[in-house]
Amino acid sequence: MAFKKVKVGVVGCGNISYTYLYNLTRTFSDIIEVAGCSDLIPEKSKARSEIFDIPQRTTEELLNDPEIEIIVNITEIINHNNVTDMALKAGKHVYSEKMMSHSFEDAAKTIAYAKEHGLRFGAGPDTYLGGVLQSARKIIDDGVIGEPILAHAICLRGRGANHSPMAVDFKHPNGGRTGTTIPYDVGSYYVNAMLGLLGQVNSVTGFCRFKDNKVMTNPVHPRFGELVNKQEGATMFLGALNFDCGCYGSLAVYSESFPPETAGLTIYGTKGNLYLPDPNYYGGWGYDATMSLNGNPGTMPMPYLFGFNDHSPETPLLKPEVPRAPRQGDAMRFGLRGIGVADMAYALRLNRPQRCSEDLALHGLEVLHGIDESSAKHIVYDMTTKTERPYPLCPGFMGGPDQDAALIYTDESYKL
Ligand SMILES: NC(=O)c1ccc[n+]([C@@H]2O[C@H](COP(=O)([O-])OP(=O)(O)OC[C@H]3O[C@@H](n4cnc5c(N)ncnc54)[C@H](O)[C@@H]3O)[C@@H](O)[C@H]2O)c1
Repeated sequence: MAFKKVKVGVVGCGNISYTYLYNLTRTFSDIIEVAGCSDLIPEKSKARSEIFDIPQRTTEELLNDPEIEIIVNITEIINHNNVTDMALKAGKHVYSEKMMSHSFEDAAKTIAYAKEHGLRFGAGPDTYLGGVLQSARKIIDDGVIGEPILAHAICLRGRGANHSPMAVDFKHPNGGRTGTTIPYDVGSYYVNAMLGLLGQVNSVTGFCRFKDNKVMTNPVHPRFGELVNKQEGATMFLGALNFDCGCYGSLAVYSESFPPETAGLTIYGTKGNLYLPDPNYYGGWGYDATMSLNGNPGTMPMPYLFGFNDHSPETPLLKPEVPRAPRQGDAMRFGLRGIGVADMAYALRLNRPQRCSEDLALHGLEVLHGIDESSAKHIVYDMTTKTERPYPLCPGFMGGPDQDAALIYTDESYKL
């Protein structure tokens, strides 16, 4: 089946744009055509346009191009609202990197606008579509580990947010505000992975804090030397999640830890456990997810039944901001970021819901917002939004027609 390609405009040419542009111009080029990229800093969009042989344009030009259907918003979290709102007002569908907004209230308003105007507003993370989490979902849905009882997600990262130029908390002059810190940024991988496996959450509680008042010691930060106030966004979250399916979950995110990063997701069931690698990535070549089953004294590798895995342990992740021409294997090294955009493009052509939906993204954002609220007010926060688990992908592996088939079909149509 041949589809008319969906033209997209990419706004934001920072770190992750290399990976996105690699995948949008190569891995998912059957369905996507990149009609241009823009950045507030023209040198950055120029560099990407030269590497990927795509037009360098201004954001205004992208928004005014009637052929562009989707704007891919990969600016920093603090700019997501602004760029998404502009694109929706220009009549474009939007796919935004996570979180869809730094503010739950603003995100809800933007979604309402999109729905009112018949526009799609998909949002990351899309790592849930990777091989490891899709395989884990099938194993859970097939009852292999029995009834899920407890999910435990953890992400301890940083070298001290204050010291790391990569730390989202303080990278942007307005970063560090509530809704922009590491728990909101990377926390979404862990929350959305749990939502994808276990479904929606009914209520949350938690404790959050900014570790200390301290002086910004990161010399590359615009606020170098200033006192950072603890009332700004929390950098440590410990949340408890009450899932609708009856499972309980925990989420621990801390951005001032030290390498190596500690991150993962474990699902404990009545008949066995799944020990999953960091849901910030798509897979792991099939041997870093393990499981234990009732009666077996040890753990065994969890079988991988789905494609869209990423880096091999032998090829360490390179920093995508290093300017160089794409090479074979980049998708494997840098991950499959952009698969959510490809799924949204197929969803447009097939008139079906996209898997990285606005409802799923908003529910994930509300989980984090709820943990924040619970901590500030010493309450149990009852969720106000609902979501459904997105359709699983079809089993199959990257390369050849299976890659597209996995994304084209929803579960129901695949069975036909
Ligand atoms: N860096 C990663 O490894 C990574 C991985 C996955 C997801 N993400 C997500 O991707 C997004 C971008 O992250 P990044 O690390 O590439 O950030 P970055 O700071 O490196 O790049 C963001 C770029 O957006 C540009 N920008 C901001 N506002 C703009 C506007 N109005 N119009 C045009 N350009 C604008 C900035 O000038 C900057 O070049 C974030 O949401 C982040 O959470 C990042």
